[in-house]
Amino acid sequence: MQTSQHVRVDAACGLLSLTLARAEKKNALTGQMYQALAEALEHASAEPSVRAVLLDADGSDFCAGNDIADFLAMARSKAEPAGSAVLRFLRALAALDKPLVAAVRGRAVGIGTTLLLHCDLVYVAEDATLSAPFADLALVPEAASSLLLPLRIGHVRAFALFALGESLDGRTAAAWGLANAALPAAAVTARARGAALALAAKPAQAVQATKRLMREQGRLLAAIESECHVFADRLASAEAQAILQAFMARKGAAPPSDGR
Ligand code: COA
Repeated sequence: MQTSQHVRVDAACGLLSLTLARAEKKNALTGQMYQALAEALEHASAEPSVRAVLLDADGSDFCAGNDIADFLAMARSKAEPAGSAVLRFLRALAALDKPLVAAVRGRAVGIGTTLLLHCDLVYVAEDATLSAPFADLALVPEAASSLLLPLRIGHVRAFALFALGESLDGRTAAAWGLANAALPAAAVTARARGAALALAAKPAQAVQATKRLMREQGRLLAAIESECHVFADRLASAEAQAILQAFMARKGAAPPSDGR
């Protein structure tokens, strides 16, 4: 597995724990982080000793979405999205048949929220904030969320998140079926870890077969592929470039030169 300084991977007791470790940037995901996460999920799928996967994050916020400097670099490079680390991660997420448990504290933006739709158990802090303001960034939903979010919470609620940029607190996320429970922030990781360990102790093949029966993997992969082409077009658009550059420039930061 590729190591990344910003993704910690630990294996113990049948559990593969993945921790986003870029707290200073609110755990925004870089290409290297997607690559490390993709490889860890592919390893989890292939390795019989892995019986459950836990996703957690360092710091006060779960994940501020895709790294915006990387977004700008991606758009400029005009690289084929099909070969990107992001897409490899999304495919691995959709293909994972081991149970995936998430612990969410603080803010979850963009992919930080949409990846939760692929998790089998989700524990959130009561004061967490989930958002997916793609239209505000002149982008479109990804990670099969254009399919999964309306199915989970209904079209009008999903549209308000995607297009109006509304956000949800943890209690609402639990009430709407996006999370199993909303807890005090300090209790979230322990609860998620306990649930993941409980899953790891169950008959593994039955748990995996249950997950496979509950998800139409082909449909998820097809949604990811079709979204990714629209997403790449939007990312390259003048309106998206202007918004993303404004984010990077808001504290007087230099424009990205190498995607980091
Ligand atoms: N990409 C790159 N860097 C990011 C980032 C992102 N998605 N989100 C946060 N950061 C960086 C900030 O630039 C800042 O870096 P600096 O300290 O070197 O200036 C650092 O993380 C802390 O973020 P900051 O904005 O100062 O924290 P905050 O508490 O005021 O706000 C957020 C937190 C998450 C609300 C805000 O950072 C934000 O809106 N991020 C962008 C979210 C987004 O649009 N993601 C894309 C979704 S598709």
